Amino acid sequence: MSHPIIFDTDPGVDDAQAIAIALRHPEIELLGLTTTYGNVDVATATRNALLLTQLAGREVPVAQGAAAPLVKARHPAPAHIHGANGLGDISLPEVTGRPDPRSAAQFIIDTVNARPGEVTLVAVGPLGNLAAALQLDPALTGKVKRVVVMGGSVYEGGNVTPVAEANIFNDPDAAARVLTAGWPLTLVGLDVTHRCVLDEAHMARIAAGQGELGRVLADSYAFYRDFYRHARGIDGCCPHDSCALAWLLRPELFTTAPGHLSVVTHGEAEGQTLFAPEGRAFIAPRWSQTPLAEACLEVDGEAVVEWIAATLG
Ligand code: BDR
Ligand code: CA
Repeated sequence: MSHPIIFDTDPGVDDAQAIAIALRHPEIELLGLTTTYGNVDVATATRNALLLTQLAGREVPVAQGAAAPLVKARHPAPAHIHGANGLGDISLPEVTGRPDPRSAAQFIIDTVNARPGEVTLVAVGPLGNLAAALQLDPALTGKVKRVVVMGGSVYEGGNVTPVAEANIFNDPDAAARVLTAGWPLTLVGLDVTHRCVLDEAHMARIAAGQGELGRVLADSYAFYRDFYRHARGIDGCCPHDSCALAWLLRPELFTTAPGHLSVVTHGEAEGQTLFAPEGRAFIAPRWSQTPLAEACLEVDGEAVVEWIAATLG
């Protein structure tokens, strides 16, 4: 079965690997990439997205989107994690392609409306583009097949604050709209992405299998790995964004639960995702009043990283 997807992204080392999967996997029909600030500013995100399609020898539309969060001020890009150029500060070839003239939100609307009920939105950056698309076309909620979000955390805690995951923290107001919009939505958060560790042997297979694209993925990974060594004490990287595609194509590797999501938009816990399991009664009903969604809680991490290496190897 082929999955028509739009991939919304802030590339980013782990985004780059996921984009390569989206470009290469025979069961994915990549309709377009939409870009956002996050790991880098949005112009750099767009340049990297165009570069990755070029290295894969594919012509896929790239539409530029959000340059800043909806409400809060933008945090500086995490150059210590992804490099100032988003790809580990390695030297990169010139980009020859140009972005689609439409905004990311308009591209999403046009593409979904052209194929109602068929398109899955896979979002692996801050969620401003999906929030903007919802604002322009609220009926989108009934026209997408599914929304898969790499972001948030149920029981794992955060990676940029004690409770917040980076993509949600970067734009909690957009995340609140997207996670409670009432469309079919699956959250692929730190509970599962932290269980997946891609090591050097996996990367060597990817480098060998992807030519110049493989070199860019492997060399940028080396920079990203240094961050993981210091931050989490592991010898390898969590391939967060590829996990969203792993869920889409290999859902049997994940355990999910239905529940109600909400997002803390202000204060100390800004960017925290809250998950009220379906049917569970709390002291007041307010946490259970958002539409039902699905959150990933467990994963066979070894099988996921093997799937990534086999897909790109
Ligand atoms: C998420 O934040 C970004 O830095 C990564 O690309 C990923 O999408 C992980 O928290
Ligand atoms: Ca990302």
